[in-house]
Amino acid sequence: MLLLDNRLLINQGRTRACYQHPGDKNLVVKVPCGNKKTDSMSNIIELRGYQALMREQVDLFCISHCYGFVTTSLGKGLVCDCIRDDDGAVSRTIWDIIIYQDDCNIEYIKAVIDDFCGFLIERDARLFDLNLKNIVLKLQNDGVYAPFAVDLKGRFDNKETIPVSSYSRYFARKKMVRRRRQLIERISFFREKRVEWK
Ligand SMILES: Nc1ncnc2c1ncn2[C@@H]1O[C@H](COP(=O)(O)OP(=O)(O)O)[C@@H](O)[C@H]1O
Ligand SMILES: [Mg+2]
Repeated sequence: MLLLDNRLLINQGRTRACYQHPGDKNLVVKVPCGNKKTDSMSNIIELRGYQALMREQVDLFCISHCYGFVTTSLGKGLVCDCIRDDDGAVSRTIWDIIIYQDDCNIEYIKAVIDDFCGFLIERDARLFDLNLKNIVLKLQNDGVYAPFAVDLKGRFDNKETIPVSSYSRYFARKKMVRRRRQLIERISFFREKRVEWK
């Protein structure tokens, strides 16, 4: 059993807490952080989304790959790649960069994200939950950001009554195009309002 404690905590999302793997700094372990059923379902939904992507994609280097379940002191955890900057620090989400970093080039970040979404759309990668906290920007030695999707629940965490976009390529593309536009709009919106969110 893996022992997880607060010293290993990287960040917390709505349903899961993400810890550095105690035995391997290149991995994270995600565990449900509340008691709701949705929290414990998140890891299963993510693994299912990941497996579907793997069945369909050839070369998705820009996601954190999932390796299956482990037993931890905080419940059943999902093991995934830990995305790190070239200097070894855990990469930060777009949210953390645009809200907490005083000096950042918003137009550059928007261009990086536009390209990233374009790449996913071309490959029909159904990652609908493309929000500011589900994408990290890996800072490379040359100053270039490489984006990675770290939360792959979106495909099957679908609020549609009939989940057409989980299965139809046409509707999936349309939805991804909407998601790209919203994501880029939110980068500017939250940057402008950052004092209220800090
Ligand atoms: N593979 C990863 N590498 C680095 N940080 C990660 C990784 N996965 C998650 N995180 C961090 O943990 C947070 C919560 O993870 P996430 O999978 O989005 O949980 P939730 O299902 O609650 O949304 C993310 O916003 C990010 O800051
Ligand atoms: Mg998330």
